[in-house]
Amino acid sequence: MGKFIIEGGRTLTGKISVSGSKNAALPILAACILCRDKCTVKNCPRIKDVENAALLLQKIGAEIKWKGNALTVDSSNINNYNLTDGPADKYRGSIIFLGALLGTFGKAKISAPGGCRIGRRPIDFHIDALSMMNTAFSTTHGIISASAKNLSGEEIVLKFPSVGATENIMIASVLAKGETVIQNAAREPEIVDLQDFLNSMGAKITGAGTSKIISKGVASLHGTEYKIIPDRIEAGTFLIAAAATKGEVFLKNARYDHTRQLCRILEKCGAVIIHDKSGIYINAKKIRLSPHVISTGAYPAFPTDLQPQMMSLLTTAPGLSIIIETVFESRFLHAEELKKLGADITLDENRFTIKGVPYLKAGNVRASDLRCGAALIIAALSAKGMSVVEGSEFVERGYQNIERKLRLAGAAIRLTD
Ligand code: UD1
Repeated sequence: MGKFIIEGGRTLTGKISVSGSKNAALPILAACILCRDKCTVKNCPRIKDVENAALLLQKIGAEIKWKGNALTVDSSNINNYNLTDGPADKYRGSIIFLGALLGTFGKAKISAPGGCRIGRRPIDFHIDALSMMNTAFSTTHGIISASAKNLSGEEIVLKFPSVGATENIMIASVLAKGETVIQNAAREPEIVDLQDFLNSMGAKITGAGTSKIISKGVASLHGTEYKIIPDRIEAGTFLIAAAATKGEVFLKNARYDHTRQLCRILEKCGAVIIHDKSGIYINAKKIRLSPHVISTGAYPAFPTDLQPQMMSLLTTAPGLSIIIETVFESRFLHAEELKKLGADITLDENRFTIKGVPYLKAGNVRASDLRCGAALIIAALSAKGMSVVEGSEFVERGYQNIERKLRLAGAAIRLTD
């Protein structure tokens, strides 16, 4: 188990480069196999979840080659739809291989997905939708077996705009017979990125970014080169870290249109935010935190993946802040750890009440999931003195070189085994 050692109380100043989006990379990498050709995915983050996705691609028979941050997946000789002995159970995004394998082989065998312990995270929407598209499923001892003789398009109405289910249906629909319509589709930027990637391989998908996505099945696809979008959650994490340390940071590559909800809150507190095509500049030197009421939700609402980091920031906002978590029923483990650093937080079902304290104190805390780890790093950066954040392996699942990036911006942080 690795840990971050952080000497807090320093102001973040300088430039931080935002990496490619984890949640865009994972479905795009799985979808590469559909073309049985070479795909180069540029701006791909070099993080643990992506390494696991690459291992799964190799199990399928694809050849993988990294050049800097570009990952080339050659799936010309793929020959295996059984992913039961790979790392599928290590991360949630592995479920997307279900649609990709079905679209490619008409069959799939995969371990149930793992990932952060933030709720039950069932996959019933995925299974129901793919069943409607002519797939038969059986599940035994955590292994999902699926078979589709003739994958065919359908009109699917999602009960909730699930990101993963929308992606799985999109990927499965590309080579399916006829037209697939997804109603109440997720509208996240990563869905738009997946559509753009699939279309660059020859798919015919429209509507991503709205609640209705239409995919007209095609007979075959071809290889492509594609650059994925910057990670809006990583960008948001650094924006919050800059605010928490009253810093001044330029986030190279960050997109304002993807982080608007957060930027507006920070601007209301007095942070100056300027953005253009090259990134987002934040000057939080004169920030005066005020209490907020924030409810997480499907895009474009406030992202659940920034909820822990935002909570970390609001622990020192004078007055009472409320955060309501509506996406995952048990994304709350970070609150207990923040309390160890002096935060005053109470939880009633899915509603956190945060009573602002003047400052957080340094201490030893433990990350239990990816964004919890990010929230604790932010807290430790702002608390004067030496803190230890254990559980770096959770953070490394989703952040590329976070300690190096923060160090370049003046933070005193190091990673030890
Ligand atoms: C994706 C993101 C994750 C983000 C989440 C919400 C990836 C790899 N992960 O996760 O970082 O926090 O979107 O923005 O892209 N649900 C069901 N049945 C299903 C599927 C989902 O009940 O079959 C529920 C979930 O338990 C959850 C809600 O729907 O309460 C939203 O989940 P979903 O949007 O599917 O999240 P993921 O795709 O798992």
